[in-house]
Amino acid sequence: MNELISGHSETFQRVLAKVELYAPHPWPALILGETGVGKELIARKLHELSSRRSMPFIPINCSAMPPGLFESELFGYEKGAFSGAINGSRGLLRMAHGGTLFLDEMGELDVNLQAKILRLIDSGEVRSVGSQKIEHVNIRIIAATNVDLHTAVAAGQFRQDLLERLCVLSLKVPPLRERIEDIPLIARAILERLGAQFSSDDLNCLTQFDWPGNVRQLRNILIRATVLGKMRIQDTLLKQLMVEEEKERLVITQSPERAPLLDGHLEDIERDIIVDRLKKHHGNRKETAKDLGIAKSTLHDKLRKWKEDPSVKKSWPVARWASPLGLT
Ligand SMILES: Nc1ncnc2c1ncn2[C@@H]1O[C@H](COP(=O)(O)OP(=O)(O)OP(=O)(O)O)[C@@H](O)[C@H]1O
Ligand SMILES: [Mg+2]
Repeated sequence: MNELISGHSETFQRVLAKVELYAPHPWPALILGETGVGKELIARKLHELSSRRSMPFIPINCSAMPPGLFESELFGYEKGAFSGAINGSRGLLRMAHGGTLFLDEMGELDVNLQAKILRLIDSGEVRSVGSQKIEHVNIRIIAATNVDLHTAVAAGQFRQDLLERLCVLSLKVPPLRERIEDIPLIARAILERLGAQFSSDDLNCLTQFDWPGNVRQLRNILIRATVLGKMRIQDTLLKQLMVEEEKERLVITQSPERAPLLDGHLEDIERDIIVDRLKKHHGNRKETAKDLGIAKSTLHDKLRKWKEDPSVKKSWPVARWASPLGLT
């Protein structure tokens, strides 16, 4: 896989500059960042830019397996080491020899296994489950996490000595909301890969959303919009999908402090959608309501409410559309 990394913001360019500096070295690297920001993509880039590029890149999710199973997968096991170990296994570490091991969700790694990874980093030693024989491997470790490892150390859930080894070459991938100017660029790259039709104007609305699930969430919405729009991206559909995501998040988080804030944000997006459809139907409310799948009376109530609310009226883009539609 050689996926392109898009992003021209200064913030993201600083990350890519670090990737280039870190890549040639053998020391472990730690990638921090919220879910979906692109940590794995960055890990692969570190591997591709290193002299190990022709050797394996082995990704492992540290939270996905019970500790016992995880150890035998990682370190391998001798034939007969435990019931069911009929043939023995070399393990993923030996497979990664000469290449890179990517430990994803490192913050979730079991404490006993943390000690073994520490030894691997310090000495390159690997010992299969059920064996006394020690072998040496040459592996570059790259770890990633969305957990604050310093807090995990303070809580006794993560070994301080392991964190010290890992954080020498660390980098933080910023969330999308801190690099808004990258959103259309990343969206364009994703849509081109999907073979969707779109115009740059269609993508501007994507910067209005704060993308708590970051690039992964953006990608999911673009795929959904491509499918629902039959390969043609429309910004009204994108807005509608963003409203749906936001509503889902409201239900999930149920956060009383955030709800009013989101409500306001949702209403802005909802208003944008309604305005677009009204324009499409030249102000015809019956056609607009039908197109939106809502009752004409609901549309009427919303328009009346917005018209009478002074705070909304202040932010109404009056000249652009409200006047011709009789809403001023
Ligand atoms: N800068 C970018 N340009 C293009 N695509 C990107 C970029 N960043 C991330 N992606 C895409 O977004 C998706 C999520 O990225 P990735 O899996 O690397 O994130 P992650 O931080 O590892 O997520 P998680 O925390 O959920 O494991 C992938 O499909 C990836 O290809
Ligand atoms: Mg990941």
